[in-house]
This record gives sequence, structure tokens and C-alpha cells, in this order.
Amino acid sequence: MPTVLFGITGSIAAYKALDIIRDLMAEGVEVVPILSEGGAKFVTRTTLEALTGRAAMSEVLPENSRQEIGHIVLARQADLLVTCPASADIIAKYAMGIADDPLALIALAFGTPHLIAPAMNHRMWENPATKHNVEILKERGIEFIGPDKGLMACGEEGWGRLSPLDEIYGRIMAELGKSGPLSGRRVLVSAGGTREAIDDVRYITNQSSGRMGHAIAEAARDLGAKVVLVTASDLKPPAGIQVEHVGSAEEMAEIIFNIAESHDAVIMSAAVADFTPVKKVNGKIKKGQIGDLSNIELKRTRDILRELGTKKPVRQLLVGFAAEFGPEGKEEALRKMKEKSCDLMCLNDVSRSDIGFCSEHNEISVLFSDGEIKHLPKNTKKEIAKSIMLEVAAILKKNDRH
Ligand code: CTP
Repeated sequence: MPTVLFGITGSIAAYKALDIIRDLMAEGVEVVPILSEGGAKFVTRTTLEALTGRAAMSEVLPENSRQEIGHIVLARQADLLVTCPASADIIAKYAMGIADDPLALIALAFGTPHLIAPAMNHRMWENPATKHNVEILKERGIEFIGPDKGLMACGEEGWGRLSPLDEIYGRIMAELGKSGPLSGRRVLVSAGGTREAIDDVRYITNQSSGRMGHAIAEAARDLGAKVVLVTASDLKPPAGIQVEHVGSAEEMAEIIFNIAESHDAVIMSAAVADFTPVKKVNGKIKKGQIGDLSNIELKRTRDILRELGTKKPVRQLLVGFAAEFGPEGKEEALRKMKEKSCDLMCLNDVSRSDIGFCSEHNEISVLFSDGEIKHLPKNTKKEIAKSIMLEVAAILKKNDRH
């Protein structure tokens, strides 16, 4: 399990760090909390120790000589240092190499990788001294997450708010994944149900929420891949990846065909509409103009997966999703896998209301091109996505050897 040194400094946003720590621990990450002198005024050691089950370092030279581990041991053990929230003061100490504070001491002993999520008044963030310190740290390979712009605790508005927690969490997971089984791989994921416009107000779509595709993108990121997500979903995409928002099947096709070639794996989890109106009407169609709407003429869209299959680079892995009604969908999924030249086909039973469309859960059979079938029992989409991406990682690794 990876170990993260999690530093908290004196900022009103300090309490938010607790949520990130809890989410990291839920993923099995070991979190070692460290409080700067200022941080200890906002969050207690007791809270952090209860949350993490680890001693929280909050003194440079602790009176209790039996304190669990010294700063050098901590620095040696850890995979990543996170400072969240980071005050202007700690940033200045990091830049100057000052070690008179427990967190500054750890940072000096640890080095990189180090992610800093600043939170401070906008005047302090924009002060040339802070700007200069940030530049120094960036030159040393330390990465910054935010800050964001918005209303602050002091009532003023500007740059200096702590970035959204899911963004900080995503960047931490992406960093930890860099040594994962998809490290160095490029993965392209499509998600959501495309929207085929009838006019500027109405469109035809389907029941796909995009949850499965977004979970796949997140899992690929956490396993170390560089991810591009092409999504037609309204859901907030995972942080730490490149996101391209699209509407129609044609828009999705254009982006995917432009970039697919450079990817090691393409995962087509989007529910691409099979039909689109022949002509989109500008403005809003009036009821009187079109009668009972029985005369919308539709045409077939491009089959993105099929086209990808015809021109895929030799080592590229192509994964399709087959949305079938009822348990006898296996034959159909096999047919689609062959016709679309996929290496993997994920069979989804969309007749069930407890899994699939709009649900947080899924149950999938993964069909391999050699005839093997693996059943992934009902679980959260997050866990199912992880299992699928681990299969992808294993095949890519196997193909490397041939
Ligand atoms: N797909 C695609 N482009 C389309 C339609 C589907 O790339 N125009 C992809 C989907 O993303 C999915 C796979 O093809 O990975 C299978 O989609 P599915 O809707 O199950 O099957 P269809 O090919 O549309 O066939 P049918 O309508 O007969 O079920």
C-alpha cells in the first residue's frame, strides 16, 4: 500500500483535509498526518490519530522520546508528500529550506514528489514574495493544485481558495498511480449517452448516465495511465485526466478518430446513438410547423468502435461494451466482439433495474477474444471498472512480451 505524508497548515480550510484523508484511507492508502505549528491550532492531533490510526507528528523535537518515528524514517517510508492546505508561511519555509517547524522539517528531508494545495487570502497569494517562492518550488519539481478563485472566509474574493476536494484527491491518486500496472500507458475512454439534436432545444438520447465510463477513466488514472476521457455525460469528470466534452455521436467520432492512434487502449463505454436526425432545425420547431412530430427523418450514425477496429494499430487494445436485454445476450456480445474486432467485450444486462443504466452498481461478463469469459459479480461501478482495467493492464503486459 502506498504511504502519503499528509501535512496540514494553519488555514481555515484545514478541516477540509480530513475528508480527503478519509477518502484516501478508503482506497487503502496509508496516511501519516503531520501538523505544522499553525495547523495544530485548527485541527487536533487526537482527530488525526483517530482518523488515521497513526501518530500525528506535531513537534520538531518531541518531549516523548518514544514517539513512533523520526522525520528521517518517515521521509524514507513515504511515497508522496501532500501539503493541504498550504499557508503562505509554509510555502516560504519550503522555498528557503527552513526546518523550524515539523512539517517544514519533513519536507526538507523528503523532497519530491510533493503536491501543494495552497489556501490563503488572495493578497497573500498575489504578493510577489509568495509568487517568487512558488516559482522556486515549481522549478524543483514540486507541483501545485490550485488555488481556486472565489469567496474566502475573510469575506474577500479572489485567487486563494483551496481547490475542490475531489480535484485534490484525484491529483493525489494520479500521482500514487504513477508506479501502477498502467504506468506509461495511454488510455482513451468514451462515456455517456450521445445527444442527437432535433432542433436547438430538443434532442434524442438514451438512458446512459456515463457513470461506468467515468469510473473506467478514474480506475485507469489510479492504475497509472495517462487518460483522455471523451464524455457526453453531465457528471463531473474525475480530476487529473484530460477531458473532452461532446454532444452528438459525430462529435464523439471526430475527437476519437483524431487521437485514438496514439493510445495503447481504447475503451468504448459510451452509449453512442445509432440514429440521428437527418437535418437539425435551427431555432425551436413550433408545434404547428411539424404536426405530431411523426416525420422526423433519421439516419444511421457512424459506428465508432467498428471503424476503430478496422484501422487499429497492431498493439492497440480495443474494449467494447455490449448493452443487451436479458441473460441470453452472450451470443450477441460475441457477435459484436467479432464484427467490431475487439480484444475484450464487456457484457451488460440492461434489463435489470438494480445494475447498469443510472445505477451505482454493475455486473459484467468480460468476454476475451480467445473465448474465455470472466464474470465480475455485482459490485460498485468503481470496483467493476478497476477489475476491467486490471484485465487491460495484464493483456497489454502480455502483448509486450510477444
Ligand atoms: N458503438 C459505437 N458506435 C455506435 C454504436 C455503438 O462505437 N454508433 C459501440 C459502443 O460504444 C459499444 C459497442 O459499440 O462499445 C456496442 O454497442 P451496443 O449499443 O451494445 O451495440 P450496437 O453496435 O449499437 O448494436 P445493436 O444496436 O444491434 O445492439
